[in-house]
Amino acid sequence: MKFFVDTADTAEIKALAASGLLDGVTTNPSLIAKSGRKITEVIAEICGIVEGPVSAEVAGTEYDQIMREAAVLRAIAPNVCVKLPLTPDGLRACKTLTGEGTQTNVTLCFSAAQALIAAKAGATFISPFVGRLDDIGQDGMELIADIVEIYDNYPALTTEVLVASVRNPIHVIAAAKIGAHVATLPPAVLRMLYHHPLTDKGLAAFLKDWAGTGQTIA
Ligand code: E4P
Repeated sequence: MKFFVDTADTAEIKALAASGLLDGVTTNPSLIAKSGRKITEVIAEICGIVEGPVSAEVAGTEYDQIMREAAVLRAIAPNVCVKLPLTPDGLRACKTLTGEGTQTNVTLCFSAAQALIAAKAGATFISPFVGRLDDIGQDGMELIADIVEIYDNYPALTTEVLVASVRNPIHVIAAAKIGAHVATLPPAVLRMLYHHPLTDKGLAAFLKDWAGTGQTIA
């Protein structure tokens, strides 16, 4: 399973990239707003840190405007993945951009039917939002299972399932068990994956015993 980090905070991205676990980055207009920076500058900096896909989202909603914004975003770096809304104009742009060899991430997916048409439009990634579905009392992970099952029925569909709106490690493990290709994680959730109290307890005991030997290894 690939891990993307869902943030526009370049200090966080640098720190997480050093872990060797990072396969890409996703941003959205809210995260860019939170960074307080110009989208072209922040995306350029992220693309210099991470080799994998870096999702940069258009703000236009009408085809011509989406395409104008996509031209600016994809010119920033070869690893920019243009993020598009799951609307008729967004999917039309997806089809065009994919045909031109640009990576695309279709966002704000909340149903299997939406995921199916995004794949038919040639999306590189489909982003179903599990946390936001859970928030309204629907099981977000059921949607992931449905999309993976549907895509598996049609090997010609190459779209990867990018689990978004992830809120905790339980989401990550459930998505991995289903076989989703990618999860995009807030930095705090990515860090949580390391932790187990028995690891901390065990390490403390090993280090105490080791200190008692008076040895050094290097
Ligand atoms: C995905 O690409 C989105 O940026 C993100 O996962 C949305 O998460 P949220 O529901 O926590 O805002």
